[in-house]
Amino acid sequence: MADRRKRLPNNAAGEFFVDSTCINCDACRQLAPATFDEAGDASFVRAQPQNIDDRQKAFRALLACPVGSIGSDDPAGARTALRDFPLPIEDAVYYCGFNSSDSYGASSYFVQHPEGNWMVDAPRYTEHLVREFVKRGGIAYIFLTHRDDVADASKWARRFQSRRIIHSLERSAQPDAEWIIEGTEPITLAPGFIAIPTPGHTRGHCVLLHERFLFTGDHLAWNREHDRLMAWRSKCWYSWSEQVASMAALSRSDFEWVLPGHGQRVKLTIAEMRQHVSSLVRRMKAQRWRD
Ligand SMILES: [Fe+2]
Repeated sequence: MADRRKRLPNNAAGEFFVDSTCINCDACRQLAPATFDEAGDASFVRAQPQNIDDRQKAFRALLACPVGSIGSDDPAGARTALRDFPLPIEDAVYYCGFNSSDSYGASSYFVQHPEGNWMVDAPRYTEHLVREFVKRGGIAYIFLTHRDDVADASKWARRFQSRRIIHSLERSAQPDAEWIIEGTEPITLAPGFIAIPTPGHTRGHCVLLHERFLFTGDHLAWNREHDRLMAWRSKCWYSWSEQVASMAALSRSDFEWVLPGHGQRVKLTIAEMRQHVSSLVRRMKAQRWRD
């Protein structure tokens, strides 16, 4: 619950505000870019919503905020936005919302599939999402890209009897995971779902390829400021040279969507995506220094 006494001074006057507990995870700026912006190391309300659509998006941001830093004069207004989650992205792929502070506000996803539904990384455990996932047939698999973004995965697994999938090198973050994958080669987990090991950000980081969708964890995201793909050198915990190699290998895969844990999602054509990945690899190589 946001605290008006901690309201950041640069918020535009009006209904919505961000307080000083913001961790600058970017979730609100992605969900409601007309309302929220970044200043220093926090988000703030740049402009109050001017129409119903932007107000709805601001309430979605309020609900997704992992640390409850967003407040509104009308907390009841969030109820209508609650119904929007999980938020459809395309086809049967959804953004869960309810980002968790345990994963530093990482985004998580849900894929509805006739052979069993998937969760990719985990949101906060909330009864609203439980009800929505029950309606959609539960969660058969929880794919965990890496150790940082497991959040409430064990609670979700317990509730839905899901199989948690994680690489053996990340296992310490989820020691009782039901399915441990190994090695550095892509693994078909189920028809249409391929785990691709992408060591770099962490040693056992993996992305998940499902049809045109690539769930990228903290390996790859879109930089909306420069309109190009990006990887975080300053947040590479294991090996930059390995992350460069992982990125280069990824250019062999075809996908249209990049759906990251942290950072902006994006959809391009397969050809554009290939070009962007190649150009990112070139820039990453230029950034190489001792790991
Ligand atoms: Fe991470």
